[in-house]
Amino acid sequence: MAIDRKQTTVFDAAVFDAETLAKLVGVIEVDGQPLYRGIADGLRRVIADGSIGTGSRLPPERALSHALGVSRVTVTSAYRELREKGWAEAVHGAGTFVASPAEETSWGTMMHPPSAGVLDFVNAAPEASPFLPDAFAAAIGAVDSLLPGHGYAPTGTQALRTAIAARYTVRGLPTSPEQIIVTAGAGDAAHLVFETFARPGNRVLIEHPTYPGAVEVLDSVGAVPVPVPIDAADPDAFVDDADRAARQNAPTLAYLMPDFSNPSGARLSESGRGRLSATMARHGIVTIVDEVAADLVLDGSPSYEPFGAPTPGTATISIGSFSKTVWGGLRVGWVRSDVELVSRMARTYARRQLSVSIFEQATAVHLLDSFDDILAARRTWLLGQRDLLVSHMRAELPDWDFRIPDGGLSLWCSLPDGTSTQDVVRRAASRNLLLAAGTRFGTGYAFDDKLRVPFTRPSGELGRAVRILAETSSGAAGEGHPVEPAELVV
Ligand SMILES: Cc1ncc(COP(=O)(O)O)c(C=O)c1O
Repeated sequence: MAIDRKQTTVFDAAVFDAETLAKLVGVIEVDGQPLYRGIADGLRRVIADGSIGTGSRLPPERALSHALGVSRVTVTSAYRELREKGWAEAVHGAGTFVASPAEETSWGTMMHPPSAGVLDFVNAAPEASPFLPDAFAAAIGAVDSLLPGHGYAPTGTQALRTAIAARYTVRGLPTSPEQIIVTAGAGDAAHLVFETFARPGNRVLIEHPTYPGAVEVLDSVGAVPVPVPIDAADPDAFVDDADRAARQNAPTLAYLMPDFSNPSGARLSESGRGRLSATMARHGIVTIVDEVAADLVLDGSPSYEPFGAPTPGTATISIGSFSKTVWGGLRVGWVRSDVELVSRMARTYARRQLSVSIFEQATAVHLLDSFDDILAARRTWLLGQRDLLVSHMRAELPDWDFRIPDGGLSLWCSLPDGTSTQDVVRRAASRNLLLAAGTRFGTGYAFDDKLRVPFTRPSGELGRAVRILAETSSGAAGEGHPVEPAELVV
């Protein structure tokens, strides 16, 4: 059954007739697994690429078994697999309906924390900095000074906003505390920006691939992504492509990661970022610059001024956090922009969240006191981790292709011809190695030939993970009981 998927129509919240669905599924890849699982995978693929919307009713089992030329029991098992994994729901007496599984959102793992013995490479998130306990202790030591008053600081404590602003100023972007809002991480900051400035139907220019959490947030406010390819081998090509996409699609917002984009690792050059900022300004686009990885410079490559520094007066909103430099568990991040945009965001934030924890903010102030040392230690550690992962990959997976990134937290790998990221992830999961498939970083079904491999897990796990990939990424799937991929993708 070879079907040209491009000829198929996108339906939304529809009732699917069996023939249409069979065409959408196309060729059923069995590849060493039971037939029902191949059908479930095919269905999952058309749900994931948006061809079938959440809430659509799947055809009755008998009709689909006819259309696919398989037994009814096979389709029953495929539907059961989809239900168990959260891709479908049975409504008594009404049929089986497409659902959006929790595992496909960036908060999935919170609901299903990985069990012992599982190697969690889904997340590019390092363990806590060795400097963190001292910062907590310093905050405890001065806790009496934190307690007077009601304890709410709607835009953040004066001390932390002053410290964050000072760091921007030192980096070349003069900033006052009034230009900062403290948030519960960069994800929270992105949410705040989209909630304030995006309206349903607004277009948002994004890098492609991009950070899935951002796409989820812009989806949640009804905005529409305008994907523009980004390639670490030629990052500045993004500028002209973004210009063209802006002319054609008139986005009102852009969400960019000019430093070590997640997952591609791309970093714009100094002149590239200046041209990009000017281009966005020319199109009247409010540009969100995610700086979560901006300080994770490896290999002694240069530190650049913050995006927008050479183009003052442009509508740039920087977001950042301590999640990658210190620890995701701290939950402290920020937004930086001009006073007018900040005051609009402050009103939005106050409606949603009264304050970020005063104690964590005090801890963050102590962290910023010795931030250069913290960064130096983090960079040294990440560099060692990156080189170790690269050497394991070269030895065990010589036909996987990747560029060694000069910053960030992961390798963005091109898989050998004909290898699907979904297959690699599924097979690795059967050996207790969890990964985020390349498709998680794209819109539609892009990046099925890519896999992100983070180097943030303890060094002993890097070698074990690569070994499992080498043993499972081609040939038959491993025998072990498949582990449900728990997919918090950060
Ligand atoms: C590019 C990017 N932005 C934002 C976030 C979310 O960060 P936080 O933990 O600060 O909310 C992540 C987490 O991985 C990320 O990679």
